Amino acid sequence: MDRETQRQAEEWNRRRWDEVARVHVGAYREVELLRTGQEVLDEIELREVGDVLGKRLLHLQGHIGTDTLAWARHGAIVTGVDFSEESIKSAEALRDELGLEARFIRSNVYDLPDVLSEVFDVVYTSRGVLCWLRDLTAWAGIIARFLAPGGIFYLMESHPILNALEERPTGELAFIHPYFHRPEPVRGEAGGPDYADPTHPLQHPSHE
Ligand SMILES: C[S@@+](CC[C@H](N)C(=O)[O-])C[C@H]1O[C@@H](n2cnc3c(N)ncnc32)[C@H](O)[C@@H]1O
Repeated sequence: MDRETQRQAEEWNRRRWDEVARVHVGAYREVELLRTGQEVLDEIELREVGDVLGKRLLHLQGHIGTDTLAWARHGAIVTGVDFSEESIKSAEALRDELGLEARFIRSNVYDLPDVLSEVFDVVYTSRGVLCWLRDLTAWAGIIARFLAPGGIFYLMESHPILNALEERPTGELAFIHPYFHRPEPVRGEAGGPDYADPTHPLQHPSHE
């Protein structure tokens, strides 16, 4: 896939995420958990990342900020990054509503070195992030760039085999997409339901 096609695919994705950001503020269970002072993060990641009190934590592809703000509640000094402006606006509104400290930056992950020059004790990303990335080697370079010496990178993600499966109308799971990398993205057409709010018909296609 040439660079221009990649750029267009990312632009469609960015519009898709702009479209659903506010929908997700209303639909995400995590928002309610944050508002009621309950835990948002999984016990596995809490255990594996460990004590973040006073640590600088960079959250890549943080969407509407629910996980970023949950880490802030645990005492981390958090910076959340996402390329969707509506996601960043929603994250900032949630931060202000909850009275938490957090910095949010709108940027494509790949362009982050142009707008951020610090290093972090923890670089974190989770749940539905890898499928949007066009170049995992370049992405890994970005992570390395932002890690302080001795810092950790933490990824929590569903297994990619799930992306190869689709549910048939009968309810059974079938292998529809290739498991191994291929140059062209898998296009998700507009019109289908949003995963968090099935009553919302999606207006923009996605490219995974
Ligand atoms: C499924 S969400 C992130 C997961 C988050 N834990 C959640 O469930 O809310 C995926 C996020 O990745 C962001 N994203 C996708 N590609 C990106 C890129 N190249 N640079 C920055 N953000 C990107 C989208 O805007 C979206 O907010």
